[in-house]
Amino acid sequence: MGSFKSIGLNRMLWLWFGFGMGVMFTLVLQSAAWMPNHAQHHMHKRDIKATTRATSSSNLTDTMNQFGDPGDGRDFIARDEYLLSYSRRDRVPSWTFEHLTAQSLVAGQGVNRSNSAFKEDPAIMSIFRSLLADYSGSGYDRGHTAPAGDAVATQEAMDQTFFLSNMSPQVGVGFNRQYWAYLENFVRSLTGTFSDVYVYTGPAFIPQKSGTTFTMSYPVLNGNTAVPTHFYKVLLVPHGSGYASAAFLLPNQKIDSSTALTSFKVDVQVIEKASGLVFFSKLSSLDDLCSLTTCTVTK
Ligand SMILES: *[C@@H]1O[C@H](CO)[C@@H](O)[C@H](O)[C@H]1NC(C)=O
Ligand SMILES: *[C@@H]1O[C@H](CO)[C@@H](O)[C@H](O)[C@H]1NC(C)=O
Repeated sequence: MGSFKSIGLNRMLWLWFGFGMGVMFTLVLQSAAWMPNHAQHHMHKRDIKATTRATSSSNLTDTMNQFGDPGDGRDFIARDEYLLSYSRRDRVPSWTFEHLTAQSLVAGQGVNRSNSAFKEDPAIMSIFRSLLADYSGSGYDRGHTAPAGDAVATQEAMDQTFFLSNMSPQVGVGFNRQYWAYLENFVRSLTGTFSDVYVYTGPAFIPQKSGTTFTMSYPVLNGNTAVPTHFYKVLLVPHGSGYASAAFLLPNQKIDSSTALTSFKVDVQVIEKASGLVFFSKLSSLDDLCSLTTCTVTK
């Protein structure tokens, strides 16, 4: 008898429980039905988060890290012949770094840039990738930041320079195909004089002054990839017991090939101020590279 009674009680509880669940389920379905998809998604995500909610806020870093550090908008990628810091916002590099020597510029057997193809970079999250469609029909060249001509040791190394994460939109005629290419040649030629040539290359975004007002204005290809106003190269070579350096900042426009390279020479701080980067923070004093060798470009 006793066990029968308790079974009856359990059954009743189960009935009530089932009824309650049914009502709740119907309410949830009804409330969810009229909600837009993203709101349902949001509700679901918040439910998950709530199970791991912060209990202490004594350390603000720890508190934030429970939710996720938004990061600084950069991707760092190491490849065979260059390092890359990629700006997710602009979809162009913020800098590349290379180490050139006479030996590193000896072309490997069969290495040929016509074997390489431009490609989107799967190492970048898809929403931050620079796309082939951005450049297509834009009128801008896909300008290498770390040049293909510096990565000649293997076909694989050269192919890696063709990721769009290493590209910036460059004016083609008179810049990417001429003056900028001459500058790349000059940098390679330094390996004939110096045992090591270290090169930082990147785009710059420089405000333009009109009257008393500075504004930043540049096209954004396909609403995705920013067109830099300028490009820089910061060079470093060993000299004596220390180093020598030179920095060049060029506008992203047709440049007459007779223009002196030294007319684009700037104090490295000009590039630092525009970019937020700091070069050679571990080096104390630097000699002027252009007082040791002729800084000039030839066609
Ligand atoms: C807070 O936590 C972070 C990460 O655990 C730690 O690096 C930092 O030193 C802490 N700060 C303080 C003030 O305790
Ligand atoms: C590279 O390949 C192209 C096309 O196949 C060819 O015309 C060219 O001669 C090659 N260059 C070298 C240096 O082998």
